[in-house]
Amino acid sequence: MNLDKEMLPKHLAIIMDGNGRWAKQQGMPRIFGHEKGAKTVREIIQEVSEIGIPYLTLYAFSTENWKRPKLEVEALMHLLSRYLKKEVAIMQENNIRLNAIGDLETLPSKVRKELYKAMEQTQNNTSTTVSLALAYGGQQELLQMTQQLAQRVQQGLLTPQQITPELIQQTLYTQNIPPVDLLIRTSGECRISNFLLWQIAYAELYFTDILWPDFSPEELRKALANYQNRERRFGKTSEQL
Ligand code: FPP
Repeated sequence: MNLDKEMLPKHLAIIMDGNGRWAKQQGMPRIFGHEKGAKTVREIIQEVSEIGIPYLTLYAFSTENWKRPKLEVEALMHLLSRYLKKEVAIMQENNIRLNAIGDLETLPSKVRKELYKAMEQTQNNTSTTVSLALAYGGQQELLQMTQQLAQRVQQGLLTPQQITPELIQQTLYTQNIPPVDLLIRTSGECRISNFLLWQIAYAELYFTDILWPDFSPEELRKALANYQNRERRFGKTSEQL
């Protein structure tokens, strides 16, 4: 599939959904789906950096996911720390920078340790910045931003009039990352599920029935080709573009 290099999204975000259903279809426990999902993560990161998309954000664990059965949460955390340990070498090879967004202090210390280590080791890489959303919730991010700005106003460091969209953007987890251009969600669900609420204001949305473990570089290219055929008007008329 031929993609126009000039019309690639700068920031691609993905809600990776359907691991559990994929495992069920195979008659296997849910964690088996997450394991296969982690393999897909590796393939997609590689493809995204080869295609030349500078920012990729993956929804790996939401604030709501803490409510899942304890065993599944523990297995996911274990999978994450194993993945991070193993993945750094591949990221270095591919010049990929790892970033994380979310309430990272709530993660188990083992995961946090691997995460910070991987982030530090890859901090000078320049191809794609991959942000893992971990213990992430969009409303909680907006709440935290509001509290921070309110505090600065209370301290007399800021006037309410100085609160601009740019300042809000600078106070979010994604402070140095451009807005989302394309949001993909797998597994047939057509929801945002509290993901990047501010950052997706003008994003194109793409929903596919493919379950995350079956999502492939080819499916990614299909989504990108679809994106390239859309007219992004940002509130203007076609004639004004
Ligand atoms: C959604 O499937 C997936 C998650 C809640 C976790 C995403 C995790 C991975 C893709 C694997 C590990 C991640 C990394 C970065 C190595 P679901 O369990 O909600 O599926 P279901 O809707 O079919 O039940």
